[in-house]
Amino acid sequence: MSQDYTFLKACRGEQTDYTPVWLMRQAGRYLPQYMAVRKKVTFLELCKTPELAAEVTIQPIDYLDADAAILFSDILTPVEPMGLKLDFVPGPVFENPVRSEADIDALRIPVMEEDVPYVLETIRILRREFEGRVPLIGFGGAPFTLACYMVEGKGSKDFAQIKRMMYGAPELFAKLMDKITEMDRQYLNAQIAAGAQAIQIFDTWGGIVSPLDYQKYVLPYTRKLIDGLDRSVPIIHFVKGAGCMLDIVSQAGSDVMGLDWHVNLGKARDIIGPKIAVQGNLDPTVLYAPKQHIEREVKRILDENAGRPGHIFNLGHGILPTVDPEHARFMVECVHRLSGK
Ligand code: CP3
Repeated sequence: MSQDYTFLKACRGEQTDYTPVWLMRQAGRYLPQYMAVRKKVTFLELCKTPELAAEVTIQPIDYLDADAAILFSDILTPVEPMGLKLDFVPGPVFENPVRSEADIDALRIPVMEEDVPYVLETIRILRREFEGRVPLIGFGGAPFTLACYMVEGKGSKDFAQIKRMMYGAPELFAKLMDKITEMDRQYLNAQIAAGAQAIQIFDTWGGIVSPLDYQKYVLPYTRKLIDGLDRSVPIIHFVKGAGCMLDIVSQAGSDVMGLDWHVNLGKARDIIGPKIAVQGNLDPTVLYAPKQHIEREVKRILDENAGRPGHIFNLGHGILPTVDPEHARFMVECVHRLSGK
């Protein structure tokens, strides 16, 4: 029974026989088998070719023995059909970033089955492939993180453009965020309808604002998004840099909160309370350490959780491309062995 997957039970806060584990960005450049596929196509072509996207989604399941798979795509995939020309060099770049009201008005809400059919087809292929083996996580960017890329046009250190809009033209910012939130709602519900068994919302840049600004400019949209999702599947909400505002972020209404490594997992659970499960939170750079160090850190995090139900082990952010894959596999093995599998 698919509902009995250890990962899904942990998402629902139920007792499990052992601690399930997967790694954010587990399909990717640290794996030679990914690079072999990636050599033949661009990153966007890979995302848009269901057979190849499915193949690289399966690779880390075969290699790592992780307890959940995550769809191979990108948070910016649905933004391209909104009308922004997207390239990866390797970071994302939009040729025509959103700066004015006319730019916002020109954005369209994609028709998911027509504009991103490859995402939904990849999910359908993967459900057939994984039946009885591992559950499949779908995902999207949180409205604020998507807005950061759409307004900045690329990654940023100071986020000057989005903050200019947020503080200087709050009605424009709200209009943009409303449109992105509605796109995201339809996009994630389409993934669930196609077969995604859990959804992770990535708010990579949600922590660049103060707790008060998070409450004012970010939280209302993420909460509205989560409210509008088909809740027959668990929703995981990962905000990087949320350690100082866990009480506020928990109001977004997710089933699971992703934690980065700047918080003690046990203390975070005390703040969040027993109704929300947690996912995390090993520092991704610990995978550069010798194996005894990795094992000690895995044990420390399991000890911080202290046997409470509703813990999914993960990194505190995505795996880094220069990590030795053997160390990632060893980490998964440690989580399983030390938690009693
Ligand atoms: O987790 C997985 O294995 C699924 C695939 C996945 C990718 N991107 C593939 C990818 C997921 C879940 C994402 C999410 C994503 N994309 C986020 C949120 C998570 C996070 O890391 O903060 C963000 C901010 C993006 C935007 C993005 N895409 C950036 C900033 C970059 C460049 C940085 C980098 O890692 O190179 C990408 C490109 C990207 N997305 C790659 C992969 C495997 C590398 C592209 C390549 O193969 O050249």
